[in-house]
Amino acid sequence: MTNHRIALIPGDGIGAEVLPPARHILDAVGRRHGIAFRYTSYDDWSCERYRREGAMMPGDGLDQLRDKDAILLGAVGHPGVPDHVSLWGLLIPIRRGFRQYVNLRPVRVFDGIESPVRGAVSGEVDLVVVRENVEGEYSEAGGRINHGLPEEMAVQESVFTRAGVVRVLDYAFGLAAARGGRVTSATKSNGIVHTMPFWDELVAERAAAHPGVAWEQEHIDALAAKFVLDPSRFDVVVGSNLFGDILSDLAAAVAGSIGIAPAANLNPEREFPSMFEPVHGSAPDIAGRGIANPLGAIWSAAMMLGHLGHPEAAKDVTDAIASVLAKSDVRTPDLGGSATTGQFTEKLLTLL
Ligand code: NAI
Ligand code: MG
Repeated sequence: MTNHRIALIPGDGIGAEVLPPARHILDAVGRRHGIAFRYTSYDDWSCERYRREGAMMPGDGLDQLRDKDAILLGAVGHPGVPDHVSLWGLLIPIRRGFRQYVNLRPVRVFDGIESPVRGAVSGEVDLVVVRENVEGEYSEAGGRINHGLPEEMAVQESVFTRAGVVRVLDYAFGLAAARGGRVTSATKSNGIVHTMPFWDELVAERAAAHPGVAWEQEHIDALAAKFVLDPSRFDVVVGSNLFGDILSDLAAAVAGSIGIAPAANLNPEREFPSMFEPVHGSAPDIAGRGIANPLGAIWSAAMMLGHLGHPEAAKDVTDAIASVLAKSDVRTPDLGGSATTGQFTEKLLTLL
């Protein structure tokens, strides 16, 4: 029996509704593969706590997580708390403090899901967005001056380091090699004249170090259009923090629903726990109604299984997801069905 210590952070809104299904699936697949999970749940690390105590998590939050093998997170965000407060109070400190510099977001069009995009045919769209996760455009360097005056201004500096860019590019090229695929780099070196030419130079340099992997680069605007017009041509798409963020939501929409999309925040060296979370947010518009699609959280849990060294268990979960979508019409309202989160999870459990 392999034991894993898992931190659960449900967060806000539907975050707390999609984590229990993920846990049921983990337990069920774990029983079959001889894997046991010991969970520690951090139920009040949320916007509610922020409103009560002025912090999303306790001051020693990272220390409480440090000895875990992985973190499974729901979502954070509440209409009464500014989004930058919830993001910078919890998610970003974990991503940065634990050097989770790769944000991995697989996208598939499953059989049984109708994509809003005509060219997105099931079985053909199977790509991964590799997003740089700890530097780039999401930086604390900058400031605001002259508040309220006509000359008020805000400056925000992007930060691109050689070490930070090289390691995420190497991850992307390594992943493409393992998938037998190719790399597309998202750039904007025509308009952004310092950081993006630097990014492009490093892409060419790392490509030369991975001679077996084909690659190309595309400006982000053209790339966004191609994601919609011809999504099946992509395999591994690597981008900076901002570009990767936007592209992965776009890709999730192309795949049919943001409710399905999973993400992994990886510390590839395994010095720290990695964190797994659905791409979607806390969805205040449907929170509390029991109709959230749990697949994003469940697929994220499958990615966690893969990271923890259980690829067969991970595949059982993704196969069950593919099969519930292809062979049954039980689904949550975001996918055109009428099942509750609980009913859908029950159905999935029967296929595992
Ligand atoms: P969102 O992803 O929460 O919702 C966007 C739309 O998709 C909504 O109409 C929602 O009902 C629907 N949706 C999302 N997940 C779904 C699911 N599992 N099942 C069915 N429908 C689903 O994004 P939004 O509305 O921009 O943000 C809401 C809050 O979530 C904000 O406070 C935002 O900051 C936060 N957020 C947090 C993230 C995180 O914790 N990683 C990521 C994105 C947003
Ligand atoms: Mg996003």
